[in-house]
Amino acid sequence: MMLSSFPNRRGRRLRLNSGIRSLIRETSLSKSDLICPVFIREGKNIIEKIPSMPGVYRYSIDKLIPYVEKLVGYGILAVALFPLTPIQKKSSNCEEAWNPENLVNLATRQLKKNFPELIIMLDVALDPYNSDGHDGLLIDGKIVNDETLLALDKQALVQAEAGADILGPSDMMDGRINSIRTALEENQFKDTLIMSYAAKFASAFYGPFRDAVGAQGLLKGDKKTYQIDPPNIEEAIREVKEDINEGADMVMVKPGMPYLDVVSAVKRRFNFPTFAYQVSGEYAMLMSAIENNWLDKNRTIIESLSCFKRAGCDGILTYFALDAAMILDKNV
Ligand code: PBG
Repeated sequence: MMLSSFPNRRGRRLRLNSGIRSLIRETSLSKSDLICPVFIREGKNIIEKIPSMPGVYRYSIDKLIPYVEKLVGYGILAVALFPLTPIQKKSSNCEEAWNPENLVNLATRQLKKNFPELIIMLDVALDPYNSDGHDGLLIDGKIVNDETLLALDKQALVQAEAGADILGPSDMMDGRINSIRTALEENQFKDTLIMSYAAKFASAFYGPFRDAVGAQGLLKGDKKTYQIDPPNIEEAIREVKEDINEGADMVMVKPGMPYLDVVSAVKRRFNFPTFAYQVSGEYAMLMSAIENNWLDKNRTIIESLSCFKRAGCDGILTYFALDAAMILDKNV
């Protein structure tokens, strides 16, 4: 198709005023696109700051309830829970991960009781429970794949039993989606969704998260033998394809903003429910500039999340979920 040229065509006519701009807007951001990650901890009456994530807190379960009530009140449909595990409950075999009464399972039951409609997502990975800090089991200096799968299956089953709607395997072991899906089917959890962290990169942007869940100091080495090397997109596509073939219902790219090319490629290639995670480091980066008044908070949040939609995301995990919902309400 040939475009007419100036002055027959004036691109600025389409930007004339806010009504016209709305009329031709190609993608839109809504609250129902957002999943809010929430950090939880043991104890009572605790709301604790996370220094590297200003504005994000860890909640004890009793304080989690009113916080989630607020999220729900503002129209957030889904949360993803992440636990801070006390050091004495971490071990090299990670058995706390499949304790039916562990913190995330208790919190899930409580939340389901209070908010039956709330969608709850839980990570399937060993790092919150691992005294070695890794997502998989560390044996003789190696992250062992197949032994880790057995542990992940056990973890997934107690989480499904507790009432998690979506399981998010975030560990990047090979074969995990098939393994978890088979375990779920064999145990009659036919409706439990899997959102696989399918293209998860070995990124520096997870730093603040590791502070938040207390994994930073413990981590021996790095995660490069299982997470994807940041310069690679073809490898990311292969990982996504595998997870879809193995039975994932939704796939995720992580981190978000520096990886929107991957989101776009995944969406176009597979036409599958596609998500991205605006991770802790992205949040910290934007928030520190916002707190310095170098960036305008509302505009920055909405712009960054809208760009995920433009790239092809069906939904976004973001620590800005509540802020975004409030901003969308005010229509600013
Ligand atoms: C752990 C996990 C990580 C995140 C979610 N699940 C960190 C990691 O892989 O080290 C990162 C989230 C964030 O940075 O916001 N399996």
